[in-house]
Amino acid sequence: MDVVAALVTAIWIMLPAYVPNNVAVLSGGGRPIDGGKTWRGRRVLGDGKTWRGTVVGISAGIALAFLLNAVNGPLSNGIGVSLPIFSIAIALAFPIGALVGDMAASFLKRRTGRERGAAFPGVDQFDFLVMALLFGVIADPGWVLDVFTPLIVGIVLVVTPILHVSTNVAAYHLDLKSEPW
Ligand code: CTP
Ligand code: MG
Repeated sequence: MDVVAALVTAIWIMLPAYVPNNVAVLSGGGRPIDGGKTWRGRRVLGDGKTWRGTVVGISAGIALAFLLNAVNGPLSNGIGVSLPIFSIAIALAFPIGALVGDMAASFLKRRTGRERGAAFPGVDQFDFLVMALLFGVIADPGWVLDVFTPLIVGIVLVVTPILHVSTNVAAYHLDLKSEPW
């Protein structure tokens, strides 16, 4: 597989893990998941993790995986790259894992004294990726082993932080998000 085909494949397979975060930003609000509870003097997760953002974000990621499957045939033919089909397990595991990862990062931020919205360099860019892949490996190890060649893994590790930073900066300038990270 050449590098361009690998780049397209890498972005394609990660879309159901990328999109839930962005949809959560657009749809978030209302009741926080931690119900306002604190632990050792700090919020468990904080007001930035809401039921609505989480449910709508995960649903969007799952719907996107099925949509990508639906257009896979014509698109693969059109661009001459055989794009992977998401298994049902992966279509569920990537979006759920991505937002669980984001939530785990908020838990860590609160434990380390960071207020809601504070930056946590490194964690902010990789939390959702690591947890999505972990959920994916547990849900459908065969799919992950098949699709994640060393080249794809390398591209995902480089492209993910770049996409994360650029979409957040864009969302900040569009007034959709209160911080550019
Ligand atoms: N959001 C949500 N539910 C989630 C994730 C995000 O409702 N599970 C929404 C919230 O409105 C949140 C915004 O998306 O404020 C931005 O997400 P994020 O940067 O992850 O949260 P922060 O507000 O920065 O909070 P934290 O410091 O805990 O990351
Ligand atoms: Mg944030």
